[in-house]
Amino acid sequence: MHAEVFFTPHQVDEMYLRDKTVLVIDVLRASTTIAAALYNGAREIIPVATVESAMKIVGNLAGDVTLLGGERNGKMIEGFHLGNSPLEYKEDRVRGRSIVFSTTNGSQAMVKARFAREMAMLSFVNVSTVAGFVSETDADFVILCAGRNGHFSMEDSVCAGMLMQKLIDQGHRVTYGDAGSAALTLYKSNGRSLLKMLKSSEHGRYLAEIGFGDDLKFCAEVDSLPVLPLLVGNVVKLKKEPELAPASIQS
Ligand code: MLT
Repeated sequence: MHAEVFFTPHQVDEMYLRDKTVLVIDVLRASTTIAAALYNGAREIIPVATVESAMKIVGNLAGDVTLLGGERNGKMIEGFHLGNSPLEYKEDRVRGRSIVFSTTNGSQAMVKARFAREMAMLSFVNVSTVAGFVSETDADFVILCAGRNGHFSMEDSVCAGMLMQKLIDQGHRVTYGDAGSAALTLYKSNGRSLLKMLKSSEHGRYLAEIGFGDDLKFCAEVDSLPVLPLLVGNVVKLKKEPELAPASIQS
């Protein structure tokens, strides 16, 4: 299987991702938060690129069961119910809820991958589960790192390398280009000290500065949330169920 790695969504066009298996990574923090929300019983995540789209969609959905979640500059958006800390997405808050979700980089990457054949959200907390999924599909795949404001981010790249290394360790013959090779190298030099790597990353330092230091520890916990968040129709959820899909991903 061939692994193609993009370090930022700006490197790739959405039509290139069409009909491919795409793994979207935003370790800090969108992918981790989505895993936490679904693990804790959220019904679905509805990713949207802009705050305006989020407000519009939530206005069209049943108020009691829908929450607005996300961030700008790492902080909760005015009028939203939840920010983007995975620690906020506790069972009593999210069980049974649809969450309209907009973040700076993570949801942009998800929107970009909306025409994928399969799209899964990947972070350290569910890396073995996602590796199992890729292993089952046994097909070429694309890793799309959310990055940070159009730039490379260390944590997403290390996570990409970890996923690739897991597949290699499982006996898959994984081919890759220079980007994949770089991701593997970064994983090999940082994999044993993920929390340290997160603490020294640009976004990790920023999150600690604005009071979200505890999130780093949560995001560094490998396989703590063994879930597979998958794009199903226009929403991200855990299992494929026939449904009426009331909302759509909007750019
Ligand atoms: C993003 O999508 O840019 C992030 O998840 C930012 C964050 O809240 O840490």
